[in-house]
Amino acid sequence: MSASAVQTVPIPLTPEEAEAMAQRHIKKHHVAMVLLHWFNAISWLLELATGAGLIVSPYYRFAPLWYLQMMEGIFGSRSNMLRFHIAVALTWITVFLVYAIFGFRSYLRVEIVQNEIALDADDLRWLKVRTLLLLGRTQEELPPQGAYNAGQKLFALLVYTMVPLVMLTGLIMTFHWFGSAIVAWAMVLHLFAVGMVVSGLMIHVYMGAVFPEEKPAFYSMITGVVDELYAYRHHFKWWRTVKIQQQLWRDGLTSTAPGEEPSMKEEPDRDPCADEAAR
Ligand code: HEM
Repeated sequence: MSASAVQTVPIPLTPEEAEAMAQRHIKKHHVAMVLLHWFNAISWLLELATGAGLIVSPYYRFAPLWYLQMMEGIFGSRSNMLRFHIAVALTWITVFLVYAIFGFRSYLRVEIVQNEIALDADDLRWLKVRTLLLLGRTQEELPPQGAYNAGQKLFALLVYTMVPLVMLTGLIMTFHWFGSAIVAWAMVLHLFAVGMVVSGLMIHVYMGAVFPEEKPAFYSMITGVVDELYAYRHHFKWWRTVKIQQQLWRDGLTSTAPGEEPSMKEEPDRDPCADEAAR
């Protein structure tokens, strides 16, 4: 089979095909991304828990009184809690800075950012059909999706725009940069940006950790791989790209003489093939 023969639209699978695909795995997340994601999730958990405990003004407070007292009891005082909040935040910012500097060329490439957040026509239709499905107003099939569906892309877009604002306003407040008027604005913007991320996080955590259909996505954030059947049914366009890369890789191997290095014009991502070869 040539790479161009990989099917262009999802077709119904026989039970045998579905079973075979459920047994095969393809790589979705690099180990560095898995580690960074869970480091980020733990940092957010600690920051949200202490951040909510630090807002005691009756005008802004949203945590109940018992929570504020409990948190103050755990840390001994509110200033200790603030020190902890700042220490976690500075560690979080430093890790992301290191990631941005050293991972820039591997992970922050334009095409990766485009795959994760740019919405195409299928994504826009996915958002419409998904909403109508939730309202019980259509029986239409969801359009095929890339590595991330349109909902995940919107969440990623929200995170990528709000997180720099959270970091910058946090630094302004910590080091009292630019005078007290800017610090006062930073407080409001900090709360706003965190609130925006939290609104998306509620859906993200529900979809990632609870929603039954997305269980393979949750495990992929631990093992780095998903089964092919899940990829085929939920992320068909990504599945197709991986299959084409695998086929190009095989074609490259078969067109070379024994002992000769395969020379490939279009160098594929080798991880999926490495995964398959390991089986
Ligand atoms: C307990 C908390 C969390 C759980 C269970 C969780 C779960 C997941 C899962 C399962 C994925 C993989 C999705 C896929 O490959 O299809 C993912 C990706 C991702 N997560 Fe989380 N996550 C959590 C916390 C967070 C936090 C705190 C943030 C950022 C503020 C975050 C940002 C992202 C981003 C940007 C991605 C990649 C794109 C996306 O799926 O939106 N996650 N998460």
